[in-house]
Amino acid sequence: MKRAIAIVGCGTIGTTLGRLFAEAGYPIAGVASRRIESARTAAEFIGTSNYSDNSAQITLDADIVFITTTDICIEPVCDEIAQNRAFKKGAFVFHCSGALPSGILRSARHCGAYTGSIHPLQSVASVKEALCTIAGCTCVFEGEPEVLLTARELVRDIGADFMQIGERDKPLYHAAAVVASNYLVTLVSVATELNEIIGISGRSSAKGLLCLIRGTLDNLEKLGISDALTGPIARGDIGTIASHIDAIKRRAPHLLSLYKALGEMTVSIAGANGKLDTDTIEGMQTLLAA
Ligand SMILES: NC(=O)c1ccc[n+]([C@@H]2O[C@H](COP(=O)([O-])OP(=O)(O)OC[C@H]3O[C@@H](n4cnc5c(N)ncnc54)[C@H](OP(=O)(O)O)[C@@H]3O)[C@@H](O)[C@H]2O)c1
Repeated sequence: MKRAIAIVGCGTIGTTLGRLFAEAGYPIAGVASRRIESARTAAEFIGTSNYSDNSAQITLDADIVFITTTDICIEPVCDEIAQNRAFKKGAFVFHCSGALPSGILRSARHCGAYTGSIHPLQSVASVKEALCTIAGCTCVFEGEPEVLLTARELVRDIGADFMQIGERDKPLYHAAAVVASNYLVTLVSVATELNEIIGISGRSSAKGLLCLIRGTLDNLEKLGISDALTGPIARGDIGTIASHIDAIKRRAPHLLSLYKALGEMTVSIAGANGKLDTDTIEGMQTLLAA
């Protein structure tokens, strides 16, 4: 018999996890949210009749509690449940933040619960989308040793991959996720701006760039970082890089330092795969550092 789960915070992640856990055979002890309408909608979607706008009412019967509120509310919501003595002794309490450590659930620990965080390494905007993309993503666990096996089981049961990190490594882990996901959006915005300067409309620009990015992602998946790198830096084409610098300096000077900084990092990748001679690498480094 699987253990009963309560969901506190019926937004995208809470509603999605509730549904995935229910489909995986976990009894749902109940769901709670700040607004009763959110709790009712999630309860209908997950298939439980027990919903509330008072978290303490639904956590008392739960063996496992997921606090899936926005990050800023996780700690106060946990404290409130603890003050109401509404964590079962020995319950496992998780949050899903990628940035915050499981230590923010210390009030649950004081009630005799064990705590951890399980972060789905995925960017999701809606429940419909999340139902497909969370299964198959990596869920990253950090927390007390007592909850490790259960965390692994929960992640496996929703069809995701499991990874464990230490509490002190969470900020760097989250920075990596921000660079890979959020900064990719920023880079596309920069490329769109350069295209706009030469009169390529947003729509055409997005179509062309997204096709290019998908090809790059495929190469990254198939070949790994070093071999996926193409373009002038991988070829050691100093003339082309110089023409980029010249054009950006004249027509988009505010983007020059970004172009150069990323270029210098890209030279390091190209240099490491051993296909370029030392003079070419040094020439590109000098040009980009100037
Ligand atoms: N979305 C993502 O891509 C993603 C990916 C990985 C991890 N996460 C993490 O997952 C967690 C939830 O994120 P989300 O995207 O699902 O956020 P969300 O869609 O904004 O949902 C958060 C929900 O928390 C509820 N809430 C806020 N304050 C509350 C309180 N005091 N008591 C009870 N419920 C409260 C809100 O409920 P009401 O509707 O009732 O106001 C809201 O529906 C966060 O820790 C986030 O970092 C998100």
